[in-house]
Amino acid sequence: MSITILGIESSCDDTSAAVVRDRALLSNVIANQDVHKEYGGVVPELASRAHQQNIIPVVDLALKRAGVAAGDIDAVAFTRGPGLLGSLLVGTSFVKGFALSRKIPMIEVNHLQAHVLVHFIVSENAKKSPDFPFLCLLVSGGHTQLVLVRNYLDMEIIGTTIDDAAGEAFDKCAKILGLPYPGGPYIDELAGDGNGSEFSFNKPRIRNFDYSFSGLKTSFLYFIRDELRKDPEFIKKHRADLAASIQKTIVDILIEKLTRASKSYGIKEIALAGGVSANSGLRREVGKRFSKDGYHVYIPEFRFTTDNAAMIAITGFFKYQLGQFTGQDVTPLARMYF
Ligand code: KG4
Ligand code: ZN
Repeated sequence: MSITILGIESSCDDTSAAVVRDRALLSNVIANQDVHKEYGGVVPELASRAHQQNIIPVVDLALKRAGVAAGDIDAVAFTRGPGLLGSLLVGTSFVKGFALSRKIPMIEVNHLQAHVLVHFIVSENAKKSPDFPFLCLLVSGGHTQLVLVRNYLDMEIIGTTIDDAAGEAFDKCAKILGLPYPGGPYIDELAGDGNGSEFSFNKPRIRNFDYSFSGLKTSFLYFIRDELRKDPEFIKKHRADLAASIQKTIVDILIEKLTRASKSYGIKEIALAGGVSANSGLRREVGKRFSKDGYHVYIPEFRFTTDNAAMIAITGFFKYQLGQFTGQDVTPLARMYF
């Protein structure tokens, strides 16, 4: 018997709903919030209000595109955390009402675990999924983690950032260059016309498989400040090379620990996930670095890199199979571990 799951994602500034039937994706609707652009970052108050506005139309559209009625849904999965509490509350409250009225179970999902499980979504362009165990570099605006994935719901974080996330490093450096928020995609685009070896920045020395990005951001800031004193046109003249150089540095830092972890654990199945896995430099370098010696690399489709409900729905499907349901007394968690 096939299982149909509605997934809801509202942890940050994207309101999303998706429907999966078993592992097959039937629809995935995402409403982005433009209100944050002029503030240079996500404003939590505005994010929760926008979720409140978007959630019903987004769910309606997801059901319509999937060609299913509310009565066809077997369970509803939602992001319990981590994320912005006000944003999570909107999704959680909606799901409680939906589940109660339809008399179906609710399934709580860890947003980070869900990012990793995008590799198991079956869609029209789906490629082979990773074999267990695999290593996943999970890089987003809020998180930078090396995850050892033993099974769908058996994951261990073996490395994490001790300060900023990789996406934050992209966004903060982009801001220094005067680019809009979120700056990661702008750096990526500019880097295509620049020379990544033009400028070099110190890489952090952190133990084990952990990361650190706040020092890099500071050294980038001081470097630019000093150069601007000599030439006020410095950024304008070197924007593409600066973007390419900072991107190369971040990518090198990410890949170095990934390589070390893969050697240490003897794992040759390598996956990327999260918003920063949309970065063309990272996708290219990981592909290159792990292309031989029996390695296999799994890079998500662009639409599954940033926040989406397809990843929540697929995670919900795996939890449904294990009967892992949640009660109506559930509350969202700004911090959530697995
Ligand atoms: O996973 P995500 O959508 O949200 C979080 O859970 O944080 O990730 C958003 C992050 C932002 O920092 C954004 O700048 C970054 O992903 N990002 C990129 C690219 N596309 C998105 N960073 C570098 N290059 C890109 N092409
Ligand atoms: Zn995310």
